[in-house]
Amino acid sequence: MPDTRLLSADAPGLKRAAALLRAGRLVAMPTETVYGLAGDATNDRAVAGIFSAKGRPRFNPLIVHLADPGQVAAFAHLSPVAQRLAAAFWPGPLTLVLPLRPQAGLSPLVTAELPSVAIRLPAHPVARALLAAFDGPVAAPSANPSGRISPVTAAHVLAGLDGRIDAVIDGGPCAVGLESTIVDATRDTPRLLRAGGLSVEEIEAALGAPLAERAEGAITAPGQLASHYAPRGRVRLDVAHPEPGEVWVGYGPCPGAALSLSPGGDLTEAAARLFHALHEADAMAGESGRIAFAPVPETGLGRAINDRLRRAAAPR
Ligand code: TXA
Ligand code: MG
Repeated sequence: MPDTRLLSADAPGLKRAAALLRAGRLVAMPTETVYGLAGDATNDRAVAGIFSAKGRPRFNPLIVHLADPGQVAAFAHLSPVAQRLAAAFWPGPLTLVLPLRPQAGLSPLVTAELPSVAIRLPAHPVARALLAAFDGPVAAPSANPSGRISPVTAAHVLAGLDGRIDAVIDGGPCAVGLESTIVDATRDTPRLLRAGGLSVEEIEAALGAPLAERAEGAITAPGQLASHYAPRGRVRLDVAHPEPGEVWVGYGPCPGAALSLSPGGDLTEAAARLFHALHEADAMAGESGRIAFAPVPETGLGRAINDRLRRAAAPR
């Protein structure tokens, strides 16, 4: 078990982090969505280390992170519609699933041997600086133990993975606070695989056409397991009147709530606060505690917020 170092987000910290990646080690990095657990995507040992540090099932593929749009063609084929999405939203909180190029040179563990690869260009300056210094493809799932709440601070990363990874770069809290939106761009009509930090409305406006819906019941993104983002206690949703003893997390006016996603009912603020609130409510409620969330509207980022809340509340 390595000692996990806390690196600062400055030139010496980034230099150290890039050297660790080149040596096949694992470094958690801030992105604008959530912290990612980064490893060299061409190195089987590094990628296997990511799966084992997280306790992640091997059938669940990883997202490949790149610094520069010019690097994408070496790994994946971009159709005209994929190019449109890339031009509109990269760098940013959008992941595109694309046909994998033969001879891309990625570890087969990254794609779980699928014929496609998920690619993202993060916008966070620290992630971009690390990717540019490393100068190669970086596999990075969210930096949390599999099935638990995603980390939006370096402290969250350490709470879940201390002693299991080599370093974490402290870049402060993540601005978006929800994982990237994943779109399958392997066919003519792009399909939503995971709601996330870029709203469906914005994507459809850029395309000038609707996204195809996720086929009900089909396993399109193998990581989309029902129970995920799990606090230790029980979670109830759409609660306007909490029961005694419940930690109530409000949205909009909720007098007496212990915490709030956004007192003024702002979805962007609620997205940025969601995983903080889940971590805090988990700490307040404890093992046998109960957490209740006020209703959140199912529009814009509310769609991704409700998706994460439903997984947090799923039976396990
Ligand atoms: O915002 C994010 O996307 C963060 C930051 C660190 O970039 N990363 C992240 O990774 O959320 P992770 O591993 O927690 O979620 C990746 C999702 C999984 O649900 C996985 O199944 C899906 O992407 N995925 C990866 N490759 C895929 C592929 N070829 N086809 C379909 N789904 C894929
Ligand atoms: Mg994750």
